[in-house]
Amino acid sequence: MLIYGLMKFVEQAPFHYEKFMNIISLGRYGRSLEKLIEQVSVGDSVLDVGCGSGKVALGCAKKGAQVVALDSSIQMLDILRSRAKKQSLSSNIKIVNAGSASMDKVLNGEKFDVIIASLMLGELIDDLRFRTLMQMRDHLKDKGFILINDELWPDVKIKAFFYNLLFCISFIPNFLFTRTVIRPVKNLPDDLAKLNLKIDEKKNMGGGIVFLKVSKRP
Ligand SMILES: C[S@@+](CC[C@H](N)C(=O)[O-])C[C@H]1O[C@@H](n2cnc3c(N)ncnc32)[C@H](O)[C@@H]1O
Repeated sequence: MLIYGLMKFVEQAPFHYEKFMNIISLGRYGRSLEKLIEQVSVGDSVLDVGCGSGKVALGCAKKGAQVVALDSSIQMLDILRSRAKKQSLSSNIKIVNAGSASMDKVLNGEKFDVIIASLMLGELIDDLRFRTLMQMRDHLKDKGFILINDELWPDVKIKAFFYNLLFCISFIPNFLFTRTVIRPVKNLPDDLAKLNLKIDEKKNMGGGIVFLKVSKRP
């Protein structure tokens, strides 16, 4: 949770965001992004929701995927645009500046083989997160999958108690630095079930980050 606060803080320095994130997570951040990129194959259509400065979007494009990279932050997208240009990947990446709950308005009904949400769901309030997940499902091809990389609220009671305590302690510094209320993603398995989505793979990436591979129920 403290990492979440720091994460939101370093987002204010978008150019150094990935470097800072790797330092504060002791390299786990980079490894968790590699795990996402590994799942993508040549020719896949990929939607990266809350793509940030684009490490995952660029990695997928490098593998030969066609990527739509969506984020609400113009600064993050400017960095992605210049990186894509430098790496000659501009033709493989379409950049979209929009909020995750407006995907139905900006994606013209396009469907994807792979939809990725890395470290962005935790930044959304419950209602917005649910609507984002719903739109991710609606833009997923029937045989496609969703990849989620995030810090989840623990389901074990004693761990949840510890997280609540940490939330109370970190609430004021987090709010002062970031002006938002940040906490790990709550009720994700329930929300996915409500949306008729199932978890096919779950892996703890360390430091509280969890990798989930999700698909539509038949
Ligand atoms: C912590 S960064 C993660 C960036 C990238 N996915 C990664 O794993 O490095 C969260 C990103 O989500 C974006 N974001 C937050 N809320 C959003 C929303 N409602 N719609 C679209 N993007 C959003 C932020 O602008 C930021 O770039």
